[in-house]
Amino acid sequence: MQLKSCWIYTIGVSSILLLISGIVLVLSNVFPLLTQSLVEKEVVLKNGTEAFEAWKDPPAPIYMQFYFFNLTNPLEVLDGERPAVLEIGPYTYREYRPMEQVDFQDNGTKVAAVNTKTYVFQRNMSRGPESELIRTVNIPAMTVMEQFKDQPLMANLISSYMRSTDEGLFSTHTVGELLWGYEDALLKALKTLKPDLDDVFGLFYKNNASNDGQYVFFTGQQNYKDFARVDTWNGDRTLSWWTSDECNMINGTNGASFHPVIAKNETLYMFSSDLCRSLYALYEEDVTVKGVPAYRFSPPSEVFANHTVNPANAGFCVPIGNCLGSGVLNVSPCKQGAPIVMSSPHFYQADEKYVQDVFGMRPQKEQHQTIIDIHPLTGIILQAAKRLQVNVFIEKIPSFSETGNVRAVTLPVVYLNESALIDDASAAKLHKVIVQQNVVVNIPFMFIGLGIILGGVFMFLMCRQKVPESSAAERQPLLSS
Ligand SMILES: *[C@@H]1O[C@H](CO)[C@@H](O)[C@H](O)[C@H]1NC(C)=O
Ligand SMILES: *[C@@H]1O[C@H](CO)[C@@H](O)[C@H](O)[C@H]1NC(C)=O
Ligand SMILES: *[C@@H]1O[C@H](CO)[C@@H](O)[C@H](O)[C@H]1NC(C)=O
Ligand SMILES: *[C@@H]1O[C@H](CO)[C@@H](O)[C@H](O)[C@H]1NC(C)=O
Ligand SMILES: *[C@@H]1O[C@H](CO)[C@@H](O)[C@H](O)[C@H]1NC(C)=O
Ligand SMILES: *[C@@H]1O[C@H](CO)[C@@H](O)[C@H](O)[C@H]1NC(C)=O
Ligand SMILES: *[C@@H]1O[C@H](CO)[C@@H](O)[C@H](O)[C@H]1NC(C)=O
Repeated sequence: MQLKSCWIYTIGVSSILLLISGIVLVLSNVFPLLTQSLVEKEVVLKNGTEAFEAWKDPPAPIYMQFYFFNLTNPLEVLDGERPAVLEIGPYTYREYRPMEQVDFQDNGTKVAAVNTKTYVFQRNMSRGPESELIRTVNIPAMTVMEQFKDQPLMANLISSYMRSTDEGLFSTHTVGELLWGYEDALLKALKTLKPDLDDVFGLFYKNNASNDGQYVFFTGQQNYKDFARVDTWNGDRTLSWWTSDECNMINGTNGASFHPVIAKNETLYMFSSDLCRSLYALYEEDVTVKGVPAYRFSPPSEVFANHTVNPANAGFCVPIGNCLGSGVLNVSPCKQGAPIVMSSPHFYQADEKYVQDVFGMRPQKEQHQTIIDIHPLTGIILQAAKRLQVNVFIEKIPSFSETGNVRAVTLPVVYLNESALIDDASAAKLHKVIVQQNVVVNIPFMFIGLGIILGGVFMFLMCRQKVPESSAAERQPLLSS
C-alpha cells in the first residue's frame, strides 16, 4: 500500500510539473526563438558559413532562356497592316555568376565583390542551334533613323546608303548574332563619320564573361535582416537585395540567392540603377516547391502602371511628356537612344492595346509573370523566374522611305526567362531542417500532452483508492500484482 501510493503521487507530481513547464515554454516562446537565433547565426556572409558559400557560388543552376518573335508578314506591315509574329524558342544558356574579387570591409560588416556572368549555350535544352534565323525589326537602322529624322541632309544620305545596300526596316539574323553581336553595315558606314561609334550591335553584346562593376553588400553581421543587401553599386547607394535593373536586364540580370527571414507583409526591392528607382514585389500566395512550403512574391501591376495610376513612372516619359501606356517602360536613355521598350512577356499586365496591336500575343499569368518563391523561416529562395520582353517602337518616319506606311506599334523582339530552381540535395536538406524545427517547436506541446495523460492516469488511480472498503478488498490482488 505504501509503495503504491508513492507511485501514484509521483505520477501526479510529474503531471503537474510537465503541465507547468510546457505552459511556461509555450508562453516564453523559447524554442521558436532558439531556432530563429540558430538561423540568424548562419545568415551572415563570413568565410566558412554555408550562406557565404551559396552567395559566392549559387549551388542551383541558373538558366537564361530566350524566346524570339519571328515576323511573318514584313511586306504587309510596311503597307500599314498589323504585324503578325510567331514565338520561337527556347534558346537556353546556362548562366554562371560567381562573386569574384571578394573583399571584406569594415570589420566584416560589409563585403565588396564583382559579379562576373558567363553564358554557355545548352543545345539539349534549346529548340535549335544558335544559327537559326529570326526576322525582326532592324534595330540599328531604326535607332539611326530615329536619331537623324530631323536632319534632312543626313537623313537623305543615310536613306540612299540603305537603298544601295538593300537594308530595310526589317532584317534577318541568327539567334547568336542578335544576342551576342554582329557587325552592322550601316553602323560601319556611319563610323567613318563618327570614329568613336561601335559598329557591332547585339542585345547582350559585351555581356558574356564580363561584370557590371563593383557591388558592396552588407554581410548581416550587424543585423541579419541586412544579409546580402546591396549597399552601393559602383559607388552609388541603393536600397535593394537585388543587383539588377531594367536596363541591366537587357545586358543580363543578377540576383541574390537569399533573403532574410520573411513575412507576408514585406516588400522585396529590386534595384534599378540607371532609372534611379526601385522595383518591388509583394506577397501573392502560398506555394510548395519540391515539397517545401514557400511564399510567392511577384511585382504587382502598379509597378508597370502608366503615370496617371503610378506617378512614380512619370520618369519613363522620355522625352519629357511623351508617356506610354500601362505595362511598358521606355528605356531608350540607357540604350544609347535605341527606341527600346521593356514589358512583361506577351504584354502581360499591359494595356490591352499593346496585345491587340500585334497578332500572336497571348499573355498568361502562369507563363509570363515574374516570381520569387521564398521559404519564410530561412529566407532561402527556392525558385525564381525573372521574365521580361524587349520591344522596339517602330513608326513611319517621313524622311525615310524605308519605313513605308508602317503604323506606330510596339513590336516585340524577344523575351527572356532567367530562372533558378533549388537543387534536389538542397531541398532534401531543407526538408530535414524543417522537420527538426517542427519537432523542436512542438516539444512544449508534447510536455503538455504528456502532462494531461499522466494527470488522467493519476486521477483514475486516485479514484480506485477512494472506492469503498469492501470492493477495494476484492480488487486488492489485481492492483498489487
Ligand atoms: C577564406 O578562407 C580560405 C581558407 O582559410 C582562404 O583561402 C580564402 O582566401 C578566404 N577568403 C576570403 C574572401 O577571405
Ligand atoms: C574594428 O574593430 C576594432 C576593434 O574591435 C575597432 O577598434 C575599430 O574601430 C573597428 N573598425 C571599424 C571600421 O568599425
Ligand atoms: C561566353 O564565354 C565563355 C568563356 O569565355 C565561352 O565558353 C562561351 O561559349 C561564351 N558564350 C557565348 C554565348 O558566347
Ligand atoms: C523565321 O522566319 C524566317 C523568314 O520566314 C525563316 O527563314 C526562318 O526559318 C524562321 N525561323 C525559324 C527558327 O523558324
Ligand atoms: C549595357 O551594355 C552596354 C554596352 O552594350 C553598356 O554601354 C551599358 O553600360 C551596359 N549597361 C549596364 C547598366 O551595365
Ligand atoms: C492609365 O491607365 C488607366 C487604367 O488602365 C486608364 O484609365 C488611363 O486612361 C491611362 N492613362 C493614360 C494616359 O494612358
Ligand atoms: C521560363 O518561362 C517560360 C515561359 O515564360 C516557360 O515556358 C519555361 O518553361 C520557363 N523555364 C523554366 C526553366 O522554368
